[in-house]
Amino acid sequence: MAQKDIVHKVPLHTLKSTDEVRDLYDDWSKNDKYNQDMIDWKYSGPKEVVSAFLPHAPNKGIKILDAGCGSGLVGEELSKEGYSIIHGADIAAKLMNSIPAGIYQALHNVDLNKPINFTDDFFDAVLCVGTFTFGHVKAKALSEFTRIVKSGGIIGFTINEGVFLDHGFKSELDHLVIQKKITQLDFYLSDYLSSKGVKAWLGIYQVN
Ligand SMILES: C[S@@+](CC[C@H](N)C(=O)[O-])C[C@H]1O[C@@H](n2cnc3c(N)ncnc32)[C@H](O)[C@@H]1O
Repeated sequence: MAQKDIVHKVPLHTLKSTDEVRDLYDDWSKNDKYNQDMIDWKYSGPKEVVSAFLPHAPNKGIKILDAGCGSGLVGEELSKEGYSIIHGADIAAKLMNSIPAGIYQALHNVDLNKPINFTDDFFDAVLCVGTFTFGHVKAKALSEFTRIVKSGGIIGFTINEGVFLDHGFKSELDHLVIQKKITQLDFYLSDYLSSKGVKAWLGIYQVN
């Protein structure tokens, strides 16, 4: 695992605090380096998740939260498909500052490991791509996502294969399914960051 989780010179699994994660991404935003790296690394997470989301969300007027929006790559894919009411949320304000204008209706500088300041049922969908990984957003956020998405809405995400079992993501998903809070619509190992030998579980769930 050690070699393949190195991003922007830092092994992800060594990140200990949210401040370290924020600083990593804010630094990575300089000179458009994050976006350039994602192109060079053929990062396919945003396109894969939006493609999987599309058949379950035919109404392009729905309100979507891009949780861990970073530089806005998921918003760009959603926008290309005609979705226009998109909010972004991320801990790294400088990375969010690099987002092109006109994609997101609102950007929220928040820590997704804390309770999210949206009322119950505020969104029709939450997408969270690249953000469930080492030292980033923890499995408990899935439960918050089910709270802020209305019944019948969609949650779509990637979970880095390296954290799926050992960092409580499988058990949190199983728990939410057993509690009948969510229903699985799609779930498979996606290419994600295949140029680096890293795959991710891609999930699309309906909120009950
Ligand atoms: C690999 S990037 C993915 C960004 C974007 N979704 C994409 O696919 O390009 C991970 C993102 O998670 C954000 N992040 C990490 N920990 C976070 C936290 N506790 N709260 C909010 N955002 C967080 C980072 O700032 C970064 O933008």
